[in-house]
Amino acid sequence: MSVPSTYTLKSGYKIPSIAIGVFKTPVDEATAIVHKALQVGYRHIDSAQIYKNEKQSIDGIAKWIKENPENNKREDVFFTTKIFNDDQGYELAKAAIERSLENIKDISSYIDLVLIHSPRTDKDRRLGTWKALQEYAKAGKIHTIGVSNFGARHLDELYAWEGFEIPPSINQVELHPWLLRENLVKYSNEKGIVLEAYAPLVRGQKFDDPKLNELSKKYGKTPAQILIRWSLQKGFVTLPKTANLDRLASNLDVFNFELSQEDVDYLSDPESHYISSLLSKDDPTEFEG
Ligand SMILES: NC(=O)c1ccc[n+]([C@@H]2O[C@H](COP(=O)([O-])OP(=O)(O)OC[C@H]3O[C@@H](n4cnc5c(N)ncnc54)[C@H](OP(=O)(O)O)[C@@H]3O)[C@@H](O)[C@H]2O)c1
Repeated sequence: MSVPSTYTLKSGYKIPSIAIGVFKTPVDEATAIVHKALQVGYRHIDSAQIYKNEKQSIDGIAKWIKENPENNKREDVFFTTKIFNDDQGYELAKAAIERSLENIKDISSYIDLVLIHSPRTDKDRRLGTWKALQEYAKAGKIHTIGVSNFGARHLDELYAWEGFEIPPSINQVELHPWLLRENLVKYSNEKGIVLEAYAPLVRGQKFDDPKLNELSKKYGKTPAQILIRWSLQKGFVTLPKTANLDRLASNLDVFNFELSQEDVDYLSDPESHYISSLLSKDDPTEFEG
């Protein structure tokens, strides 16, 4: 089974099927990591305002463009950011979007994708945020809009809203072999929403899993590569994070082998509902990321 390098979204724009995530990438390393990621072949950066490294990540894109402007084009890079809970609501969301547009203005007048980071606010604030996102999308300042951590009831609320005009192209949620979310995946497929899989490496918490290690040996690939390939073969846009320069390339080196369907199913555990982020609740950004 070959996996596509891009998907076409409801917005009409194309999204690369693998991104480098920058949650917890130290602020003073984000520019170098993003720059190196682009050099080794990533074309998609998953950021968020709450990660506090949005500007530094964009600076990594700017550095890459500047070193070879003939070949390294802004339009070949897909940049995502997210509006966190404290910035939700119509006016606050507009101010938040303006901040990200200010951060990116040296390389473009648009952002590729902006997501509502989490539904954990309230109905007025969720829908007010969507109203702001729709306006910026219509103005061409955001190419694609979407949501994150939304369940079916939050999506239903959005589709039922009288001000609803632009459908979400993306829902970004935690997805991996121990968290299949089959109902949400089915719902999303029916609505034409592309699922982005966050924590595809389960934040390293399952690297000792016996089945994963068995497949790692069988295919001669690292556990991380098996998990990233699993995510791609499930049809997800996958967002592995590494702040380690050496792992950037190996995490991307997943397009030259294929898991059999039996092995995709073998690794998938429908009985498990394992959420990696529930391990530590002491850091408020840890919960959702
Ligand atoms: N929307 C949301 O609410 C939300 C929530 C969580 C995450 N996300 C997005 O999804 C991205 C990925 O999720 P995540 O960062 O939580 O978890 P993840 O990608 O599942 O795991 C990242 C962890 O795995 C390690 N790692 C990466 N490659 C490895 C390799 N080849 N071998 C061994 N260890 C490896 C990383 O360490 P090193 O850095 O040291 O390599 C890091 O500790 C985030 O960066 C963010 O963009 C979104």
